[in-house]
Amino acid sequence: MSRRSIWRPVLDRIAPYDAGKPLEVLTAELGIPSLVRLSANENPLGPSPAVVDAITRDAARVHLYPDGASNALREAIGRRLGVAPDQIVVGNGADELIALIAWAAFDPGDEAVVPEPSFEPYTTGVVLMGATVRPSPLAGYETDLDDIRRRVTPKTKAIFLCSPHNPATTIIRQGPLLALLDSLGDDSPLIVLDEAYRDFVDDPDYPDGVSLLARYPRLLVLRTFSKIAGLAGLRVGYAIGGIDVVSRLNVVRAPYNVNRLGQVAALASIDDREHWEKTRAYVLTERAFLTAELGRRGHRFPPSQANFVLVEVKDAPAARQRLLEAGIIVRDGAGVGFPGHLRIAVGLRDTNERLLSVLDGR
Ligand SMILES: Cc1ncc(COP(=O)(O)O)c(C=O)c1O
Repeated sequence: MSRRSIWRPVLDRIAPYDAGKPLEVLTAELGIPSLVRLSANENPLGPSPAVVDAITRDAARVHLYPDGASNALREAIGRRLGVAPDQIVVGNGADELIALIAWAAFDPGDEAVVPEPSFEPYTTGVVLMGATVRPSPLAGYETDLDDIRRRVTPKTKAIFLCSPHNPATTIIRQGPLLALLDSLGDDSPLIVLDEAYRDFVDDPDYPDGVSLLARYPRLLVLRTFSKIAGLAGLRVGYAIGGIDVVSRLNVVRAPYNVNRLGQVAALASIDDREHWEKTRAYVLTERAFLTAELGRRGHRFPPSQANFVLVEVKDAPAARQRLLEAGIIVRDGAGVGFPGHLRIAVGLRDTNERLLSVLDGR
């Protein structure tokens, strides 16, 4: 008798997301107490002290379930963005929202257009649902909106756009984005515009996805508290869209999907705008420093609009290893579709200086 097969065959086509070893484990293994991680695009300044206070105050209440629909947080985000709370769904990181979109939208036979390479979970979500990814190769480091448009068919349920792009660091500018949205017309697929790194953009031609929602009802914007607010460890992201789109995502959302401390922290973080400004100013200054120094050394890279850079280096795996031995973890570009590159988050000044001297061979 043949044995019953438990698991969906599609699982064989997906490699589990490799987030690397936890920082604490690597620190112990390498015996480098000052190990710094620049491989996960985290906030170099950490969370706001007001967030730490708020979490501390709420710590004794963790026996209570959180607000199941993140009501207070949706109201606060809505006030900040000038949208109704019903247009917002909060997730356990933007990661969860990508999964919710996939659960709610895709059946086998459906298609989604995804820039290639780009943030891996878009593809994972589509494939897991048995739908088909139509990859759209980047043009160098840029998202190729003409190519994306050409790949849209009547079967296309969603288009994923990432701006600033992870890992390429480039943005989609206002004119080309509007041209794409207009060309898709009334019967457009869902356009998921992932703005996880939006707070680090200084190009004036960067569109504000939220301001486009009224004109494009099939647009859904993703944002997160992980980067600018430094709450990556608490997992809080949000999607903003039309009420129809958001209500579909709420059907598949788990009852208490965002934990109590995450909600408290995100609320406190919204009230401490100064910390966001401080993070932005710091990252922009250090990004300018790092890219000027890398450029002076002859390295090539696309101009970054994110809190990380994607740099071409000779023998990237060896360079990554040298940096690791010097206490700095960076991402080998080969793991994110850019062999011959390193993806490096903007760190504190002394880390950035150390990084440069290791790349110099000093
Ligand atoms: C482009 C992009 N979108 C979404 C996320 C996920 O963010 P979160 O930490 O909110 O799950 C990341 C995280 O690195 C990202 O790079």
